[in-house]
Amino acid sequence: MNYCCIPKISLKVSCIGLGTWVLGGEMWGGAQEKDSIDAILSAIDLGVNFIDTAPVYGFGKAEEIIGKAIKHKRSKLIIATKCGLEIKEKRISHNLTPKFIREEIGNSLRRLQTDYIDIYQIHWPDANVSLEDSLNALNDLKRQGKIRHIGVSNFDKKLLVEALKHADIVTLQNQYSILERDIEKDILPFCVEKNIGLLAYGPLAGGILSGKYQKNPHFPKSDARNFFYPFYTKEAFPQVKIFLDELSKIKKPLNEIALNWVRQKKGVVSVLVGCRNADQVRRNIEALSWDLNVEEFEIIENALSRFFHA
Ligand SMILES: NC(=O)c1ccc[n+]([C@@H]2O[C@H](COP(=O)([O-])OP(=O)(O)OC[C@H]3O[C@@H](n4cnc5c(N)ncnc54)[C@H](OP(=O)(O)O)[C@@H]3O)[C@@H](O)[C@H]2O)c1
Repeated sequence: MNYCCIPKISLKVSCIGLGTWVLGGEMWGGAQEKDSIDAILSAIDLGVNFIDTAPVYGFGKAEEIIGKAIKHKRSKLIIATKCGLEIKEKRISHNLTPKFIREEIGNSLRRLQTDYIDIYQIHWPDANVSLEDSLNALNDLKRQGKIRHIGVSNFDKKLLVEALKHADIVTLQNQYSILERDIEKDILPFCVEKNIGLLAYGPLAGGILSGKYQKNPHFPKSDARNFFYPFYTKEAFPQVKIFLDELSKIKKPLNEIALNWVRQKKGVVSVLVGCRNADQVRRNIEALSWDLNVEEFEIIENALSRFFHA
């Protein structure tokens, strides 16, 4: 395993972190608890020390499964979870009020069977609550020892600048993959400048960048790959297929190409990849055995320019 430092706090996290949205089952076509626990344990065996989760993943289920799996290994691990999304009858809304944050931390600690969270992240901004008030609530949790560090997720540069006025933000977790490069415009360079570690989510664009779909899988409406990742529509899917065919010039598995492309970008400290079982964990960690070279980056850039201008 390779480890990267979260710059402000010199915390070493595995360059591939375990994403756990899929382990909650909901919005990902279900999940088997045994497979999920195997995925977590094999990731740890292979040197992954960084697990990212959230209360909304499976409406608490992902945190519960992690809690069970890591019971006797907690001290060796860096756990990141999130706050600010409220679930009512399986409907999700934004809530970053200090009162709700205080409720959520208690629930996350209980489900994860731990008494501290290493990185506690605002999951999504909430336009109806003052960011200062939310971050002050997180600063209080830090003083109480319930959380070690504060991160934010799905923030743009303006909001991150504002957040830095009120708290010591150590990480930003945003979507970043070969197919989703929006953060390159301004927020990734800003993170590098300010020593904020970028945690990249969705590096396989929900799985499509593994190259496993020969035909469009047509996920149900409620599936994350339908409403969250825009690569499975009848317009986008054929273009992604052509793009992936071009990458076959790089004689490596597509999942490894996609993960290394993100991992090797400046500012990225960990690539959070969702794995539903031990086999996916193993195949994704294989990416660490090699690096993309300059020519291979060029092949990807050229294929991308054709893909985006097709
Ligand atoms: N902060 C946020 O708002 C936010 C949003 C999204 C995600 N995240 C975090 O980032 C993590 C990663 O993102 P993600 O899970 O949404 O997307 P992802 O990592 O791009 O894709 C993960 C999915 O791809 C498939 N897969 C993984 N490895 C594979 C392999 N080697 N071969 C074939 N298929 C493979 C699996 O789904 P199937 O087996 O079903 O195909 C898996 O669930 C999440 O788990 C979560 O922790 C955060």
